[in-house]
Amino acid sequence: MLAPETCPQCGDTGWRPADREGVSGVTPCECAKRLRMDRLLEAARIPERHRMCDFESFHVNLPFSTKHIRDAKLIAEKFVDEYPTSPPMGLLFVGKPGVGKTHLAVSIIKSLIRDKAVPCLFRAFPELLKEIQMSFNRVSNTSEMALLSPVLDAEVLVLDELGAQKPTAWALDTVGNVIGSRYNANKTTILTTNYPDRAETTAPVKGVGDSLIDRIGDRIRSRLYEMCKTVPMKGDDFRWRISNKDDAFSVQDENTRYHA
Ligand SMILES: Nc1ncnc2c1ncn2[C@@H]1O[C@H](COP(=O)(O)OP(=O)(O)OP(=O)(O)O)[C@@H](O)[C@H]1O
Ligand SMILES: [Mg+2]
Ligand SMILES: [Zn+2]
Repeated sequence: MLAPETCPQCGDTGWRPADREGVSGVTPCECAKRLRMDRLLEAARIPERHRMCDFESFHVNLPFSTKHIRDAKLIAEKFVDEYPTSPPMGLLFVGKPGVGKTHLAVSIIKSLIRDKAVPCLFRAFPELLKEIQMSFNRVSNTSEMALLSPVLDAEVLVLDELGAQKPTAWALDTVGNVIGSRYNANKTTILTTNYPDRAETTAPVKGVGDSLIDRIGDRIRSRLYEMCKTVPMKGDDFRWRISNKDDAFSVQDENTRYHA
């Protein structure tokens, strides 16, 4: 008897018998495609917290949804439809905490894997920098290059939370190297950040009203203009909305009920 996990169609060979115009032969089995997709999803390192995020679960018809948020979803979906573009063009999602930047970035990765079998990688910048810093410590046996090469080589890379790290000279150098290398290699990079461009900032207090240039420097920002389309996401903090009991609002589907 076959073990439960053995594919009944192909016996795990990846090829199943098929007749074509009376001639018997073989055809690729669906299970091989599924396996490849599972492997790509695993390799993409999507964080547990965002593992369920996809376009279907990104709501844009809620009472507090803004045009910015609707447009951001359309741009993200178009990005997947048109991938790969020439020249390669990434996206930079800019917005306050909770507007859905990471959700959309993960949705892009999942759709590219599902629809186009594109190898993708998700990394949060602050965590990546911390790991590189630890690699200098002798206890760790992972080298800086071993940590960086998947990031530099990924066909599509999501770099989450750009500018969230302390902008020390070393951090800026490392961020600059990563973005510069991908820029030179013409690779697609999708980024998210809480920091808007200078004209969009309001508070003059250092650290509070910082612009993206304050956090990453003008050389890196300038490269990003060329590498990415900037997608401003002005909207409500979704986390606050769903935790605010007074709103008595529940996300069911696009016809969400809302009792003000
Ligand atoms: N339009 C939406 N529809 C459904 N869920 C959403 C939507 N926007 C955000 N969320 C959910 O709200 C939470 C916060 O969203 P997300 O993590 O994408 O925010 P963010 O913009 O990346 O915030 P931060 O800047 O703090 O990282 C997540 O659980 C996400 O799935
Ligand atoms: Mg985020
Ligand atoms: Zn099979």
